[in-house]
Amino acid sequence: MDGRNQSVVSEFVLLGLCHSWNIQLLLFLVFCMLYLIIVSGNIGIVILILTDSHLHFPMYFFLANLSFVDMWLSSVTTPKMITDFLRENKTIHFGGCMSQIFFSHFIAAYEMVLLVIMAYDRYVAICKPLHYSTIMSLQKCIALVVTSWIIGFVHAMSQVVVIVQLPFCGPRDIDSFFCDAPLVIKLACMDSYNLEILMNAQCGVVAITCFILLLISYTYILLTVHQSSKTGASKALSTCTAHVTVVVLFFGPCIFIYVWPLSTTWMDKFLAVFYSVITPLLNPTIYTLRNKEMKNRFRSYYRDSNVYIQCSEASM
Ligand SMILES: *[C@@H]1O[C@H](CO)[C@@H](O)[C@H](O)[C@H]1NC(C)=O
Repeated sequence: MDGRNQSVVSEFVLLGLCHSWNIQLLLFLVFCMLYLIIVSGNIGIVILILTDSHLHFPMYFFLANLSFVDMWLSSVTTPKMITDFLRENKTIHFGGCMSQIFFSHFIAAYEMVLLVIMAYDRYVAICKPLHYSTIMSLQKCIALVVTSWIIGFVHAMSQVVVIVQLPFCGPRDIDSFFCDAPLVIKLACMDSYNLEILMNAQCGVVAITCFILLLISYTYILLTVHQSSKTGASKALSTCTAHVTVVVLFFGPCIFIYVWPLSTTWMDKFLAVFYSVITPLLNPTIYTLRNKEMKNRFRSYYRDSNVYIQCSEASM
């Protein structure tokens, strides 16, 4: 152990979103409300899907996973941001900072892989409908979900392991409302420019790989839909629009923050808020709005299966 690697900084200072006390009070109320909606909405979706046996299909299981993890994505940064609005000194401990980096990368990478899996699920359902139940068996679904946890974990670990070892010796100000990896790396007492590029590149590789896989899936879906009848096409498309909306709004900010070289602090902050508050709000809103249609479909499915049970009982 040489002294050079010793960190002397035990906490960082978050500069937050803005300096005006009144605006912060307003933001406090707004984000409190949004956060309550995020948590209750996403928990509602998870409970609805897990308890309603008519929703026990891979598509809804993945949706439940997405909602579950969206809630945590928001919880990594939002509660801290909300309480910080009311505090003069917005400090965060070194450990807290590292866990924010770890969990935000863990969950974001997990969510990206999950979105790819959901696209693959739609691809199988639309392009290979006859083989759907064999391809998307329960074991396969669980294996896919576990794979995305592992990818998320490995990605987050590889970021945090590097950042934890950086020498932090003086500067402590982070111009954001949470510990964002690039901003923390900038504080290290060393020439961190190359490292920053390397770490951003790693995030970029994960995001862009997922994005390309998503593009391929949705292109296949569009081509298949295009070739088939018009009614079937619009039906299949409406299932996918929700997915595509989530994908665009999730990857847009992310690719902008980590891959776009010329982004400004102001823009980064705005996108970070977008990322941790608006994206987790999307699932509840998009899928609750669409839920009426789904519910009707499942009500008729329910009726049909009752009729089927009665018929088979009658024939016994
Ligand atoms: C996540 O997906 C798996 C596999 O489809 C499923 O068994 C599990 O119940 C889901 N978890 C949640 C919290 O929805």
